[in-house]
Amino acid sequence: MVQRTRMLSAVADTEALGRELAEELKAGDLVVLDGPLGAGKTALTRGIAAGLGVQGRVSSPTFIIARQHRAGERGVPLVHVDAYRLGGDLDELDALDLDTDLQDAVVVVEWGLGVVEHLADRHLRVRLSREPESDVRTAVWEWIAGTAEA
Ligand SMILES: Nc1ncnc2c1ncn2[C@@H]1O[C@H](COP(=O)(O)OP(=O)(O)OP(=O)(O)O)[C@@H](O)[C@H]1O
Ligand SMILES: [Mg+2]
Repeated sequence: MVQRTRMLSAVADTEALGRELAEELKAGDLVVLDGPLGAGKTALTRGIAAGLGVQGRVSSPTFIIARQHRAGERGVPLVHVDAYRLGGDLDELDALDLDTDLQDAVVVVEWGLGVVEHLADRHLRVRLSREPESDVRTAVWEWIAGTAEA
Protein backbone atom coordinates (compact mmCIF):
# COMPACT_ATOMS: atom_id res chain seq x y z
CA MET A 1 0.00 0.00 0.00
CA VAL A 2 1.01 3.62 -0.32
CA GLN A 3 3.71 4.79 2.05
CA ARG A 4 3.57 8.40 3.12
CA THR A 5 6.33 10.47 4.72
CA ARG A 6 6.32 13.80 6.52
CA MET A 7 8.85 15.92 8.33
CA LEU A 8 7.58 17.12 11.72
CA SER A 9 9.43 20.21 12.92
CA ALA A 10 7.74 20.54 16.28
CA VAL A 11 5.50 18.60 18.62
CA ALA A 12 2.48 20.52 17.29
CA ASP A 13 3.15 19.05 13.83
CA THR A 14 3.18 15.55 15.28
CA GLU A 15 -0.12 16.18 17.04
CA ALA A 16 -1.56 17.62 13.82
CA LEU A 17 -0.57 14.46 11.94
CA GLY A 18 -2.38 12.43 14.60
CA ARG A 19 -5.53 14.49 14.08
CA GLU A 20 -5.30 13.88 10.34
CA LEU A 21 -4.77 10.14 10.76
CA ALA A 22 -7.82 10.00 13.02
CA GLU A 23 -9.95 10.98 10.03
CA GLU A 24 -9.21 7.66 8.35
CA LEU A 25 -9.64 5.57 11.52
CA LYS A 26 -12.78 3.73 12.46
CA ALA A 27 -13.88 1.28 15.14
CA GLY A 28 -11.84 -1.92 15.10
CA ASP A 29 -8.76 -0.30 13.58
CA LEU A 30 -5.30 -1.00 14.95
CA VAL A 31 -2.45 1.53 14.88
CA VAL A 32 1.09 0.30 15.57
CA LEU A 33 3.56 3.01 16.58
CA ASP A 34 7.27 2.39 16.16
CA GLY A 35 10.18 4.60 17.11
CA PRO A 36 12.75 5.11 19.85
CA LEU A 37 12.27 6.69 23.27
CA GLY A 38 11.01 10.23 22.92
CA ALA A 39 10.27 9.88 19.22
CA GLY A 40 6.78 11.28 19.71
CA LYS A 41 4.57 8.18 19.89
CA THR A 42 2.56 9.56 22.78
CA ALA A 43 2.38 12.99 21.14
CA LEU A 44 0.99 11.39 17.99
CA THR A 45 -1.53 9.47 20.09
CA ARG A 46 -2.60 12.77 21.68
CA GLY A 47 -3.39 14.04 18.19
CA ILE A 48 -5.33 10.89 17.31
CA ALA A 49 -7.31 11.28 20.55
CA ALA A 50 -8.07 14.91 19.69
CA GLY A 51 -9.18 13.91 16.20
CA LEU A 52 -11.47 11.22 17.56
CA GLY A 53 -12.71 13.65 20.19
CA VAL A 54 -12.36 11.09 22.96
CA GLN A 55 -12.41 11.92 26.64
CA GLY A 56 -9.53 12.11 29.07
CA ARG A 57 -5.99 13.33 28.80
CA VAL A 58 -3.54 11.17 26.88
CA SER A 59 -0.39 10.43 28.81
CA SER A 60 2.18 7.71 28.70
CA PRO A 61 0.51 4.47 29.72
CA THR A 62 3.89 2.91 30.52
CA PHE A 63 3.07 1.97 34.07
CA ILE A 64 -0.45 0.78 33.49
CA ILE A 65 0.03 -0.85 30.05
CA ALA A 66 -3.30 0.34 28.68
CA ARG A 67 -5.52 3.36 29.08
CA GLN A 68 -9.09 3.62 27.84
CA HIS A 69 -10.64 6.85 26.60
CA ARG A 70 -14.40 7.05 26.34
CA ALA A 71 -16.00 7.97 23.06
CA GLY A 72 -16.75 11.58 22.31
CA GLU A 73 -18.66 13.15 19.45
CA ARG A 74 -17.47 10.61 16.88
CA GLY A 75 -18.74 7.74 18.99
CA VAL A 76 -15.47 5.77 18.88
CA PRO A 77 -13.46 5.10 22.03
CA LEU A 78 -9.67 4.92 22.05
CA VAL A 79 -7.56 2.25 23.73
CA HIS A 80 -3.95 3.39 24.17
CA VAL A 81 -1.53 0.55 24.90
CA ASP A 82 2.15 0.61 25.75
CA ALA A 83 3.61 -2.77 24.81
CA TYR A 84 7.07 -1.88 26.12
CA ARG A 85 6.56 -3.89 29.29
CA LEU A 86 4.71 -6.76 27.73
CA GLY A 87 7.98 -8.39 26.77
CA GLY A 88 6.93 -8.98 23.19
CA ASP A 89 4.33 -11.52 24.19
CA LEU A 90 0.79 -10.42 23.65
CA ASP A 91 -1.44 -13.23 22.50
CA GLU A 92 -4.65 -11.46 23.22
CA LEU A 93 -5.30 -7.86 24.08
CA ASP A 94 -8.25 -9.42 25.87
CA ALA A 95 -5.75 -10.51 28.48
CA LEU A 96 -5.53 -6.86 29.49
CA ASP A 97 -9.07 -7.22 30.79
CA LEU A 98 -10.32 -3.94 29.36
CA ASP A 99 -13.88 -2.78 29.65
CA THR A 100 -13.80 -1.59 26.06
CA ASP A 101 -14.58 -4.09 23.31
CA LEU A 102 -11.63 -3.74 20.95
CA GLN A 103 -13.84 -4.23 17.89
CA ASP A 104 -15.65 -1.06 18.91
CA ALA A 105 -12.51 1.00 19.51
CA VAL A 106 -9.51 2.44 17.78
CA VAL A 107 -6.51 0.71 19.37
CA VAL A 108 -3.14 2.52 19.35
CA VAL A 109 -0.11 0.54 20.52
CA GLU A 110 3.26 2.09 21.34
CA TRP A 111 6.18 -0.33 20.98
CA GLY A 112 3.78 -2.69 19.23
CA LEU A 113 5.94 -3.58 16.24
CA GLY A 114 6.16 -7.34 15.88
CA VAL A 115 3.88 -7.83 18.88
CA VAL A 116 0.30 -6.99 18.05
CA GLU A 117 -0.06 -7.13 14.26
CA HIS A 118 -1.70 -10.55 14.37
CA LEU A 119 -4.62 -9.12 16.30
CA ALA A 120 -6.11 -7.44 13.22
CA ASP A 121 -6.48 -8.13 9.50
CA ARG A 122 -4.65 -4.93 8.74
CA HIS A 123 -3.03 -2.14 10.68
CA LEU A 124 -1.75 1.39 10.25
CA ARG A 125 1.99 1.34 10.93
CA VAL A 126 3.59 4.65 11.83
CA ARG A 127 7.36 4.86 12.20
CA LEU A 128 8.78 7.91 13.94
CA SER A 129 12.46 8.67 13.80
CA ARG A 130 14.54 11.47 15.24
CA GLU A 131 17.95 13.05 15.17
CA PRO A 132 19.78 13.50 18.48
CA GLU A 133 19.25 16.90 20.11
CA SER A 134 16.71 18.06 17.60
CA ASP A 135 12.96 18.62 17.63
CA VAL A 136 12.67 17.40 14.08
CA ARG A 137 10.97 14.05 13.64
CA THR A 138 10.18 12.10 10.51
CA ALA A 139 7.02 10.05 10.21
CA VAL A 140 6.54 7.28 7.67
CA TRP A 141 3.16 5.60 7.66
CA GLU A 142 1.22 3.02 5.67
CA TRP A 143 -1.61 0.57 5.99
CA ILE A 144 -0.31 -2.97 6.06
CA ALA A 145 -2.42 -6.02 5.33
CA GLY A 146 -1.84 -9.15 7.38
CA THR A 147 1.13 -9.48 9.68
CA ALA A 148 3.90 -8.86 7.13
CA GLU A 149 7.19 -7.89 8.70
CA ALA A 150 9.11 -4.79 7.65
N1 LIG B 1 8.51 17.14 16.41
C1 LIG B 1 8.22 16.56 17.58
N2 LIG B 1 7.29 15.58 17.65
C2 LIG B 1 7.02 14.97 18.83
N3 LIG B 1 7.61 15.27 20.00
C3 LIG B 1 8.53 16.24 19.99
C4 LIG B 1 8.88 16.93 18.80
N4 LIG B 1 9.84 17.82 19.10
C5 LIG B 1 10.06 17.72 20.40
N5 LIG B 1 9.29 16.78 20.95
C6 LIG B 1 9.33 16.38 22.37
O1 LIG B 1 9.79 15.05 22.40
C7 LIG B 1 9.09 14.33 23.41
C8 LIG B 1 8.29 13.21 22.79
O2 LIG B 1 7.72 12.49 23.82
P1 LIG B 1 6.68 11.33 23.63
O3 LIG B 1 6.32 10.95 25.02
O4 LIG B 1 5.60 11.71 22.69
O5 LIG B 1 7.59 10.22 22.96
P2 LIG B 1 7.36 8.64 22.95
O6 LIG B 1 7.82 8.16 21.62
O7 LIG B 1 5.97 8.34 23.35
O8 LIG B 1 8.38 8.16 24.07
P3 LIG B 1 8.38 6.79 24.92
O9 LIG B 1 9.09 5.78 24.08
O10 LIG B 1 9.13 7.14 26.16
O11 LIG B 1 6.94 6.40 25.17
C9 LIG B 1 8.18 15.33 24.11
O12 LIG B 1 8.88 15.89 25.21
C10 LIG B 1 7.97 16.38 23.04
O13 LIG B 1 7.68 17.66 23.54
MG1 LIG C 1 5.17 7.17 24.87
